[in-house]
Amino acid sequence: MNRLLRFDGRVVVVTGAGGGLGKAYALLFAGRGASVVVNDLGGNPHGDGKDARAADKVVEEIRNQGGKAVANYDSVTNGENIIKTALDNFGRVDVLVNNAGILRDRSFAKMTDSDWDLIQQVHLQGAFKTTRAAWEHFRNQKYGRIINTASTAGVLGNFGQANYAAAKAGLIGFSNTLSKEGAKFNIHTNTIVPVAGSRLTEGIIPPDLHAGFRPDLIAPVVAWLCHENCDENGVIIETAAGYAMKYVWERSKGAFLRTKLTEDVEIETVRDKWGEIADMTESERPTNINEAIGKFAEALEKLESGNVPPLVLDHVTKEN
Ligand code: NAI
Repeated sequence: MNRLLRFDGRVVVVTGAGGGLGKAYALLFAGRGASVVVNDLGGNPHGDGKDARAADKVVEEIRNQGGKAVANYDSVTNGENIIKTALDNFGRVDVLVNNAGILRDRSFAKMTDSDWDLIQQVHLQGAFKTTRAAWEHFRNQKYGRIINTASTAGVLGNFGQANYAAAKAGLIGFSNTLSKEGAKFNIHTNTIVPVAGSRLTEGIIPPDLHAGFRPDLIAPVVAWLCHENCDENGVIIETAAGYAMKYVWERSKGAFLRTKLTEDVEIETVRDKWGEIADMTESERPTNINEAIGKFAEALEKLESGNVPPLVLDHVTKEN
């Protein structure tokens, strides 16, 4: 049971692998037998500049340890070149980890068009371009593993990160959709929500906590989700510090806002029913669009058959 999980014969592309989390992923995949494309533009944490040394150093480290790796210096916005590097050097692509990222944090009142655009380009468009280039190969070979990198800011929001949170939340929708479109081709797409001490979190995660939040503690979670033995598809996994959890969408049981198909919905009814609408005690967790929208079809059926009990409303009792 404890046999090592390996990636021999697999070709893994890791974007933004010149440092931080991406480097940890690249080293682990290569250490377990994969051929790795180490992509990194080598710019600064705000997305300015470029430097081939970022990717070169990681490739050198992998090769010094006896592993197989090549560098690619394109921005993820030119994702097709990154996938081409995999095909040209290793003849195939099996795993894509969309990890490259930058920050342009600013309170929303001060956010400029370029702060917004650059963040969407690198995170969202970068993942789109790189994944689209890999997708046809994954489909043709009926095998693919994709990781998209979201963040707690994307799930919950965070002060000063409207641009970044929007892009990261966008990646969750992107991932969830690909998980559905790819399922029948054995393409699994999952989302990771990491926390790690890296260049990106300098000044956010205090230096004394960096040891506890080492990027290499996250890499095994990503590697497992990308392994051929892992069936998981369409999940969001939050992980850091040697701990991992799964995120899900949860919604309340809800409440009727009218009792008959012929009635309208009054604002006052919404007000009076608000406690029930927002009450999470009997919550449910839809996992696909049919389940989610099916609830409204059920509600319509009940309205049609007259099976909705009378609404107990404050304004009716008060105003009548
Ligand atoms: P990092 O700054 O150490 O690594 C990101 C790498 O991406 C850098 O080497 C950078 O040169 C590269 N990169 C940036 N723009 C690129 C582009 N256009 N094309 C190719 N490469 C590019 O940062 P870290 O912390 O390792 O972040 C990795 C990912 O994890 C990012 O997507 C980040 O948003 C995400 N993340 C990180 C968290 C953390 O606590 N470190 C928390 C939540 C998400």
